[in-house]
Amino acid sequence: MIFFKRLISVTWLFIAYSCGDPGPNKPHLTTPYILPIPPGFPQPALPSDNELTEESIILGRLLFYDPILSLDSSQSCSSCHNPSFGFTDNGNKYSTGVDGSVSFRNSMPLHDLAWGKQFAWDGGMPSLREQALEPIQNPTEMKESVVNVVEKLKRQPLYEQAFNAAYGDSEINPDKIGLALEQFMLIILSGGSSKFDNVNAGIESFTAEEQLGVQLFNAEANPDGSPKGADCFHCHGGALFTNNTIVNNGLDSILTDLGKGGITNLEVDNGKFKVPSLRNLAYTPPYMHDGRFQTLEEVLEFYNSNVLSNSPNLAPGMTGFVQSHSSGEQGLNLSLSERQAIVAFLNTLTDTRIETDTLYQNPFK
Ligand code: HEC
Ligand code: HEC
Repeated sequence: MIFFKRLISVTWLFIAYSCGDPGPNKPHLTTPYILPIPPGFPQPALPSDNELTEESIILGRLLFYDPILSLDSSQSCSSCHNPSFGFTDNGNKYSTGVDGSVSFRNSMPLHDLAWGKQFAWDGGMPSLREQALEPIQNPTEMKESVVNVVEKLKRQPLYEQAFNAAYGDSEINPDKIGLALEQFMLIILSGGSSKFDNVNAGIESFTAEEQLGVQLFNAEANPDGSPKGADCFHCHGGALFTNNTIVNNGLDSILTDLGKGGITNLEVDNGKFKVPSLRNLAYTPPYMHDGRFQTLEEVLEFYNSNVLSNSPNLAPGMTGFVQSHSSGEQGLNLSLSERQAIVAFLNTLTDTRIETDTLYQNPFK
């Protein structure tokens, strides 16, 4: 394990591989990696056919940070998923691919994916290994063929060794690339050392404002009553801050992006998007599938008074957000300071390990 922690740079890798070469006729040994599940998190359903090993995680991390995966070697996964931005695209609303094409969705944070059930904003990707191969081939992203990627990797001694260490033979193929990238993404966690987690562990306490925020977050909408409620917990409850469903939270009445409906071609799915985790939001502006909100204050303004009751297939869980209250208006009727309290609470979900844990960082630096 100590050895694993030291494998943070490519130089170390070369040394490690040359020491660890089992030679012919020796059995292939890998080191199991135990995912350190943060306190309060449920058990993840890890893929049974891709058991975590230190060797595959290291290979996956190399691939993730290597621009060789793109057409002109100008872009790696980390170009749009930068750990300093919670693995999102550097604060950009949309991402730009190798040939200058612009995406139509906001890049997604990559953490706690071991608990994910479906991937991409529309939930159209059933597994991380499939989601990993998609951007390589997507003409608006890395625009490369996996066949070419395999050929390019074969020319690099580093990968011959890394595939060998992970799989016991140096054959490189798209399946193995997908599986290794899946492993690297499965181990990225947010949780365990945020202020929120420290409060739960009894080693820190909330300020009065954060305390008000958490109460509002976990209370049903109550626009004319006291205390009020912000009704967030139905979709963003639990330690993961997502219930992993795909629903419409009422952003638009006329849809320019059908979301899940674009995948299933069913009208009942139009406007539905993946409920994102609310951990690490401080790293990941702008917000929503199209990055329409720059700040969490804007997000709270939306939930407080701008949820659209005529948005197609509005989630039943959004009913409290569109009820009329005594002033004649619709919404949660939260005051500015109550909205600020929720933002203060959300900021306690920031876990700096995303940019400090050496295991997550660029091995080529
Ligand atoms: C050009 C920018 C870009 C590049 C390069 C890129 N991504 Fe993404 N990624 C995105 C965008 C945008 C989305 C949201 C896609 C959507 O919803 O349609 C996304 C979504 C994802 C998701 C879904 C996360 C979730 O919570 O559902 C995963 C996983 C992912 N990318 C992994 C990767 C991997 C692995 C690579 C490298 C092989 C990569 N990405 C390269 C922009 C990029
Ligand atoms: C009915 C389920 C539901 C409820 C209730 C709900 N949300 Fe959401 N939330 C979603 C969905 C779905 C998205 C993604 C929508 C999209 O991008 O189209 C989202 C997105 C967000 C985002 C953007 C995150 C990102 O990474 O871009 C934030 C922040 C957020 N919600 C906070 C809240 C807060 C705070 C509350 C309570 C005031 C709340 N949500 C209530 C379903 C819900």
